[in-house]
Amino acid sequence: MGRISADSANPPPLRTAIAGTGMIGRVHLDAVRRSGAPVVGVSSSSPARAKEAAAELGVERAFDSSQALVTSDDVDVVHICTPNAAHAELAGLALRAGKHVVCEKPLTTDAATADALAALAARTGLVAAVPFVYRYHPMAAEARSRVRDGRAGDIRLLHGHYLQDWLAEPGDTNWRVDPVAGGPSRAFADIGSHWCDLVEWVTGHRITEVTAVTQTVDRDGGRPATEDAVQLLLRTDRGATGTLTVSQISPGRKNRLWFEVDGARTSLAFDQENPESLFVGSRGENAVVLRDPATLSPAAARLSTVPGGHPMGYLDCFAAFVRDVHSAIRAGGAASGEPATPPAFPTFDDAARMVRLTEAVLGSAADRSWKEVS
Ligand SMILES: NC(=O)c1ccc[n+]([C@@H]2O[C@H](COP(=O)([O-])OP(=O)(O)OC[C@H]3O[C@@H](n4cnc5c(N)ncnc54)[C@H](O)[C@@H]3O)[C@@H](O)[C@H]2O)c1
Repeated sequence: MGRISADSANPPPLRTAIAGTGMIGRVHLDAVRRSGAPVVGVSSSSPARAKEAAAELGVERAFDSSQALVTSDDVDVVHICTPNAAHAELAGLALRAGKHVVCEKPLTTDAATADALAALAARTGLVAAVPFVYRYHPMAAEARSRVRDGRAGDIRLLHGHYLQDWLAEPGDTNWRVDPVAGGPSRAFADIGSHWCDLVEWVTGHRITEVTAVTQTVDRDGGRPATEDAVQLLLRTDRGATGTLTVSQISPGRKNRLWFEVDGARTSLAFDQENPESLFVGSRGENAVVLRDPATLSPAAARLSTVPGGHPMGYLDCFAAFVRDVHSAIRAGGAASGEPATPPAFPTFDDAARMVRLTEAVLGSAADRSWKEVS
């Protein structure tokens, strides 16, 4: 199962099934459909909810359980879009059953399990991808190109934030707040990991050391809750330093992922909520570069599926990510290495690294020390 012939002139469709039909399950469904692949089934937290979701979403089959979905003979690719605590078991079952896997972040709620899953994926040779999809914004890809071709110069400083407000009120809650369903980290694992993956990918640097403080506000009658905010100092393997603020309690900030990387020649700044442009700062003139496939670097132009002035966004990132995943499956399932034109999709290796980083952040906050990231 899951092995798609690479040399067939008319390859069979990639039969896809999605475990979890909440916010992000529906985004995956849209992206898979845009790729032309059939979504053959869904699962939810109960058989009845799966039936409801299948009917609502126009999907033929409702699986009684996610375990049945990820091991079904009728499925080639599984997308795991459940709450965090279920990811590890389902991804392991899927890989052992020979399925290509797209698993939501965080890959797992602890680093040892994430490393084991990444190793399992490597042994199977199946595609194992994790949607750190902000890599698929054309102007983020443009920033990466300008670092890679030397126009930015050596990167010295990384800084930015990822801010949301949907847990700012005392009564706000979600499964993510509960460490059992969400894992020991919330704000960092949920959104800080996106920022770190994106900035590492743009710069080619790896975060090797962190020191962090966390904050958890009173909510839900004082029941155990995961962190609402993290502030971080970091160092990279290539000598850059950086700061990051991550928060889900910043009123008015909906999904404000913003980064700046300061190179020896230019600074590059990207704002996910205004993704059609890139700030390029220099000692001479500053510029705001607009997304226009005619003028962007090839890596950014290939992600620009509509002309400049026709705004692209989050759903387009997911569609491009799924397109790349399907290309890799068609090419024989190699989960690592860059496709012919970067950017590559993030793999279980990348995601396992983010889980290790998350553990370093929590460990540093707990004992007020610097921690190395393996
Ligand atoms: N990559 C991204 O940009 C991104 C964005 C949002 C969420 N996510 C990730 O996606 C996952 C889901 O988040 P969400 O925002 O969609 O949450 P959500 O609460 O909107 O949806 C989760 C769904 O999973 C269902 N569910 C619970 N247990 C299940 C099980 N065992 N099998 C199948 N379904 C089950 C719930 O009924 C619910 O419908 C999380 O891991 C989250 O971190 C990633």
